[in-house]
Amino acid sequence: MTAFTVAVVLVVAVAGLLRWRRPAWYWLTFGITLAGLRVLVRYASVMDACGLTVPPSRWRLALARMTNRPAPDPRAPRILRLRPTRTGLVLRIKLRPGQDAFDVSAATDRLRHSFGMYGVTSNEVRSSVVEIRMTGYDVLKRVQMPAQLDHAPMRVPVALREDGAVHYRDYRAVPHGLTLGATESGKSVYQRNLVAGLAPLDVALVGIDCKQGVELFPLARRFSALADNPDTALELLEVLVAHMQEVYQLIRAQQRISITTPDEEIAADIWDLPTDVRPVPVVVLVDEVAELALFATKDEEKRRDRIVTALVRLAQLGRAAGIYLEICGQRFGAELGKSITMLRSQLTGRTAHRVNDETSANMAFGDISPDAVLAAVQIPTDMRGVAIAGDSTGGWTRIRAPHTSLRQAVNICNKHADRVPDLPALEPFRPAVAPLPSAPMPLAKPAPATA
Ligand SMILES: Nc1ncnc2c1ncn2[C@@H]1O[C@H](COP(=O)(O)OP(=O)(O)O)[C@@H](O)[C@H]1O
Ligand SMILES: [Mg+2]
Repeated sequence: MTAFTVAVVLVVAVAGLLRWRRPAWYWLTFGITLAGLRVLVRYASVMDACGLTVPPSRWRLALARMTNRPAPDPRAPRILRLRPTRTGLVLRIKLRPGQDAFDVSAATDRLRHSFGMYGVTSNEVRSSVVEIRMTGYDVLKRVQMPAQLDHAPMRVPVALREDGAVHYRDYRAVPHGLTLGATESGKSVYQRNLVAGLAPLDVALVGIDCKQGVELFPLARRFSALADNPDTALELLEVLVAHMQEVYQLIRAQQRISITTPDEEIAADIWDLPTDVRPVPVVVLVDEVAELALFATKDEEKRRDRIVTALVRLAQLGRAAGIYLEICGQRFGAELGKSITMLRSQLTGRTAHRVNDETSANMAFGDISPDAVLAAVQIPTDMRGVAIAGDSTGGWTRIRAPHTSLRQAVNICNKHADRVPDLPALEPFRPAVAPLPSAPMPLAKPAPATA
């Protein structure tokens, strides 16, 4: 008896300790079973309490009356599937007649309390089938990306979403992106994760970092071109516009449409070209975009106008030529001068880190979703790296990138240095770097400010 008590106390103590210090391990060991049982046992009563039941149908009432039985209970949506995941549970339910997906999404907060979960979100999978995703703990507190990731071409896993799923930056679906955030909110870490994710892919990386290159120059070995001042940035952007035009010529030459050409072989962008002639896609990363758009003198103003024009052209026409823009800044509104809002309207993928006021958040989400604006303003200061990511359907979700240190990103870039593609046009902007040391540097060594 005493041995049994000791064992029980020990197990409870271990569970408590895990839950406190390592919520992810707790979830995988104890949490998953307890939560699964809790959801199944409480399901009917919770649905009833949350107003997600419908009264019994007429024929059931009539049947009860005819057979002299008590009136049947209200009915909850039918459970189609309960699937445990690494971070929570996914419950798929079939709605009863008269219910809609909005009823469920309006009740998610009540469901969260009733099932004792950390977060609950819902979305409609198809007509009358709703998926309720629940997380067992705060997955954004210590971001751990799953080992199994989906690797499609030009699709980079960058962050974890609050419902435990992976947030991908998919360049082919959403070619251009805008990342906003106050200073020290995690923009550069997000961009660093993007670079680390893009490094192993067949893509040319171009960086414009007018903060004297402190963020991108350490990663120089994987970059095809880097600019650390507005003058070089202008030359670089104009070279890219010329490159874009060459790619369009190539696509034109490859089209050779005749009456017999099958529809699927007509090339309209680089991904339709045969692999042996397809030009490499180019991702242009711009950190602190305001440095390119602000000016003090007349000459600087001219330069600024040319830079913004080049950016607008790349944003408008770049997608089919495989040129993708990824712009980071603290604000991105009309106060940066003319054509900025035009450029912004082309940047579909919006991400907002913590911002200090609603107008800054409006620059990311004002034209997409008002709830997202509020959510971006409400990100707490001590949760750096948490961001709101929107999609073009008007939905949004809270995400956080893993805290990749500069040293880790440098090691990844050095490892894939041989993947820098051969682009003669960008050769003059190729950063000069010392040859690689034979052994990778230890992680603990402080990162150099510039390379
Ligand atoms: N995803 C994250 N997880 C944990 N800490 C983060 C994360 N992103 C940023 N931070 C912290 O915030 C600090 C500032 O981030 P940084 O990306 O340099 O901000 P910004 O570029 O917006 O000024 C980083 O040094 C890091 O300590
Ligand atoms: Mg920064």
